[in-house]
Amino acid sequence: MQINGQQYLSVWYENAKVKMIDQNKLPLEFRIVEYSNYLEICSAIREMTVRGAPAIGAAGAYGMALAAQNAPDEKFRAYLRTARDELTSTRPTAIDLCNGVNYVYENALKFIPDYEHSRLVAVFAAREFAKKSVDDCYQISKIGSEIVPKGARILTHCNAGALATVDWGTALGVIRMAHRQHKDIFVYVSETRPRFQGARLTAFELAQEDIPHSIITDNAGGFYFWKKEIDLVITGADRICLNGDIANKIGTYEKAVLAKEHKVPFYVAAPFSTFDLSCKEGSDIPIEFRDEDEIKCINSNYLANPYSPALNPSFDITPAKFITGIITPKGIFKPKDAARQVQV
Ligand code: MRU
Repeated sequence: MQINGQQYLSVWYENAKVKMIDQNKLPLEFRIVEYSNYLEICSAIREMTVRGAPAIGAAGAYGMALAAQNAPDEKFRAYLRTARDELTSTRPTAIDLCNGVNYVYENALKFIPDYEHSRLVAVFAAREFAKKSVDDCYQISKIGSEIVPKGARILTHCNAGALATVDWGTALGVIRMAHRQHKDIFVYVSETRPRFQGARLTAFELAQEDIPHSIITDNAGGFYFWKKEIDLVITGADRICLNGDIANKIGTYEKAVLAKEHKVPFYVAAPFSTFDLSCKEGSDIPIEFRDEDEIKCINSNYLANPYSPALNPSFDITPAKFITGIITPKGIFKPKDAARQVQV
């Protein structure tokens, strides 16, 4: 992705360290942070220094690579198992995290008792997982741009951009590609309470590439549908089930219902790592609930009544019937067919 005229990935491995863009500091400060053990990666994922399903998948994979470097020979297997369990328990909804962590774990264990070989393989596998994510997102961007009409006014929710992946993005990759094809698009960015991934991160990515956009409040979507000023909705996903139900950032479901009511196409864009063939339907997906202070405070200052409880589900389920199509690296499929199509 381009930031201040330079190319960056959201997360990468360099000189036995994992480096990442600190997404909690954006857009006001651009800072790269680096970590040398898996416990620091656990904190970075939990605190959302890195966030977005494919990006935490890659961070988890690199976290396992660090664990392999730090594991003593005599406890190699047990150390990696603990690292795997701790990394995968940091955030429950995005399946990419489990996929990234397990990919490295399984590859590293294959070469025991040649521990030096295992360590090399762990880094190689993590890089391979991250590279695959970039390639998948590039394909999604290219394939998805075909459904964007010239002059389209597009609504997106949360941040499904290069920051949320390793590069390109999913929903925002499609938007980025359509812009590069001179399709003269405009993007409505819903702010995405409570952590403002839309207002902070999507708006930042769009501004970096001069893509015309405006931030709207989460509850302004209906107004713009009613005004017939939204032609297309594209979001990412944190998990896609066999029946085509998806989990994505809280607030996605109501955008999908509005889109159906207004006969506006609603697309979901996701790489292979976001599919969970063991989840039959949306109710099988674990939903993360985060701290109530994310809702009640901004920068540690209370805006809400401090003595009232708050409920903070971080994701919701959008049933397949509200989704026009799922944009994958292999093509665009009806939700009910997508999981089977990506499998073959
Ligand atoms: O809580 P977050 O910021 O990790 O949630 C991210 C989202 O819901 C994204 O829309 C999703 O991961 C798709 S990212 C390509």
